[in-house]
Amino acid sequence: MKQVKPEQGPERKSENTAPSALFRHVEHLHAGRDWGAFLDAGTGVNSSLWGMSLPTSRWCAVTGSRAHAAQVRKVVGDRLRPQDRLIVGNWLDPELLTDERFDTVLADYLVGAIEGFSPYFQSQLFRRLRPLCRGMLYVIGLDPYVVGPARTPAERMVREVGRLRDACLILADETPYREYPLEWAVNALTDAGFRITSARRFANRYREKWVHGQLDMGLRRLAKVTDRALATALEDRIGETRTHGVALCRAEGGLACGSDYVVACEIVP
Ligand SMILES: C[S@@+](CC[C@H](N)C(=O)[O-])C[C@H]1O[C@@H](n2cnc3c(N)ncnc32)[C@H](O)[C@@H]1O
Repeated sequence: MKQVKPEQGPERKSENTAPSALFRHVEHLHAGRDWGAFLDAGTGVNSSLWGMSLPTSRWCAVTGSRAHAAQVRKVVGDRLRPQDRLIVGNWLDPELLTDERFDTVLADYLVGAIEGFSPYFQSQLFRRLRPLCRGMLYVIGLDPYVVGPARTPAERMVREVGRLRDACLILADETPYREYPLEWAVNALTDAGFRITSARRFANRYREKWVHGQLDMGLRRLAKVTDRALATALEDRIGETRTHGVALCRAEGGLACGSDYVVACEIVP
């Protein structure tokens, strides 16, 4: 099975709640504790830049993708200390970081990306991370765009853009990410033996740039769709959705839809 291209994660969140606002919230929750040994369990450009800005005793980052690792190395490579590590690995591998312990663990948009790297492993992810945690675990995630009927034109548009993007990815033989809601994360963390200390949603407003980014991602996949008539129909549909999506963004000052979330938790001894 092919994996989603690494562009999908960053494109998804870049135009929502500014990532820095979510990281600032984590800093607030951390409340002056020592960051100590820090694990970025699903790294990328944003989380690596933030993690590198913290006074950690060591920094370790994991990604399932060599391309992601190259992007991270490009932005933080010159800041790596001798004790810091960037690892390409998969949480399915029982040997990965076995016997290591971290004071702070970050799972930044990792849950949604699991579908692309280890499908069906989502329910086991926090159990897998638990033995590595000796302090706080912070989970940053994105609620599915819309659950149930869309209530507003903005919600309908965000869902349409997302589904059109995913349809193109699937027809190009890739596996789209799959997001899980805050309630799912809280239940999965509790089942895995964590005590939740904070859980908060941050409302999203998608901008024109997001509409273009998602639709362009779909458009780029069309060359790989073997049914050329279907590819042409999808291209037309992308064009129409772009026109309507941009118009709605302009009329409403962005598309108010769904939320990101931050959960803080610690292991139950
Ligand atoms: C959406 S990206 C995370 C975004 C990132 N924190 C940032 O700052 O942009 C998801 C990350 O989780 C990694 N990932 C997903 N599933 C994984 C798995 N099963 N094992 C290891 N890494 C995984 C991906 O390779 C990628 O590095």
